Amino acid sequence: MKFVNSYKEKIKKYNEKHHLTYHIDTMGCSMNENDSNKYAGILESMGFEREDDEKKANLILFNTCCIRENAEKTLFGRIGALKRQKLKNKDVYIAVVGCMTQQKHIIEKIKESYRFVDIVLGTSCMSLFPEKVYESIIQNNSKIEYIDVSNNLEEEVPIKYEDQYRASVSIIYGCNNFCSYCIVPYVRGRERSREKEAILADIKKLAKAGYKEITLLGQNVNSYGNDLKEKYTFPMLLKDIEAIDGIEIIKFISPHPKDFKEDLIEVIKSSKKIARQIHLPLQSGSTKILKEMNRKYTKDEFLEIVKKLKEADESISISTDIIVGFPGETEEDFMETLDVVKKVQFNQIYMFIYSKRNGTKAASMQDDTLPQEKVKRLQRLKKFHEEQISNNNRKMIGQVYQVLVEGKSKTNETLYTGRTSQNKIVIFEASDKEIGKIKNIKIESDHLWYLKGKIE
Ligand code: 5AD
Ligand code: SF4
Repeated sequence: MKFVNSYKEKIKKYNEKHHLTYHIDTMGCSMNENDSNKYAGILESMGFEREDDEKKANLILFNTCCIRENAEKTLFGRIGALKRQKLKNKDVYIAVVGCMTQQKHIIEKIKESYRFVDIVLGTSCMSLFPEKVYESIIQNNSKIEYIDVSNNLEEEVPIKYEDQYRASVSIIYGCNNFCSYCIVPYVRGRERSREKEAILADIKKLAKAGYKEITLLGQNVNSYGNDLKEKYTFPMLLKDIEAIDGIEIIKFISPHPKDFKEDLIEVIKSSKKIARQIHLPLQSGSTKILKEMNRKYTKDEFLEIVKKLKEADESISISTDIIVGFPGETEEDFMETLDVVKKVQFNQIYMFIYSKRNGTKAASMQDDTLPQEKVKRLQRLKKFHEEQISNNNRKMIGQVYQVLVEGKSKTNETLYTGRTSQNKIVIFEASDKEIGKIKNIKIESDHLWYLKGKIE
């Protein structure tokens, strides 16, 4: 389905006189960030101008996440705080989009208690957005309704990237895995891969515009292609992207360990562009818990993939996601997780306490572990990981790494920032003319979450 919309022109005309502004607040994962870039692209194609200050914006869009429970409280707190702004100024509009609005109880809550919200839209109907904006702003007649999760695949959506050199490109939408804790398959629908031509055309365009780093996005990138008519797999896609001139760094999030096969490892091994940092979500190190989670791999199978990746290139580092306190997780199970952490030496761990999501299989599992115990496990994991990071950072001192200069450091105006291929943040002295170039940087000192270095 192509993204064409006649409402866009009408709103553009309106904005030639009214100059409305927009502000986007994004919660959650990279997929949502990419969707927000699309919402920004659509809004700008309709003549809206970006406004960084939420208090001054005309249209405030919340792109929501429902992966964990506390996000709901945060969202409604934020919307509630806007009520006064909205009632004071008739040119203020509130839109709530994304995963949370793909849940019926959220729509009910908005209808009951937050009636001043103008637009709600789920995850797979972005093409309806201009119409919704038209109804709210020009017709003054917005309707809040639940739209069933659909398996649409929308192409040619305008997109506005924040960065000049790094861009993300969705290659597959939805998820078929139904990990027992996860709400995503219910709110993002079934897996659907974009056609190879569409993806490659997007990336060629980005390369032409000067983009150097591409991150391929999907809930499960390595099941890309399973639903395409002609045989075309994720490793084949990576090879085709490798051949695009101008693209120097290729990243992807997230692959699923169950689909991480030999052909993918081979492509990574022979690639000169795929970052030497792979995100491989573990979730738990206990084979028993992995089974309960419906992850379809064992602890040993996970370790085997890591071994093969390190054999392919020992400079590869691995980041991961871990959930602690899944229903039925015992101290022994948790120790299995720590054991994997010890063996793999992840360079980054996104760690979460299990959050019960209604409608998922795990929501009905017996959960006897006390919340305090879960918090303790999280703290133990954090401490264990940080000690490893410090040790590994120290080993980097004196070594030289290639770094794409991303821009000025946010915390220190006089320094510049970038990342090694292993995704380590490095800060160093440079000048504006080096932004967007890849430089050799010698590491001089280490700090837990970044390193300091010097251009060679
Ligand atoms: N509780 C806690 N963490 C979760 N994740 C997904 N669902 C839940 C949940 N119910 C985590 C997983 C996933 C990451 C994006 O969020 O680790 O990989
Ligand atoms: Fe959720 Fe599992 Fe799909 Fe990831 S692979 S989105 S954790 S169901």
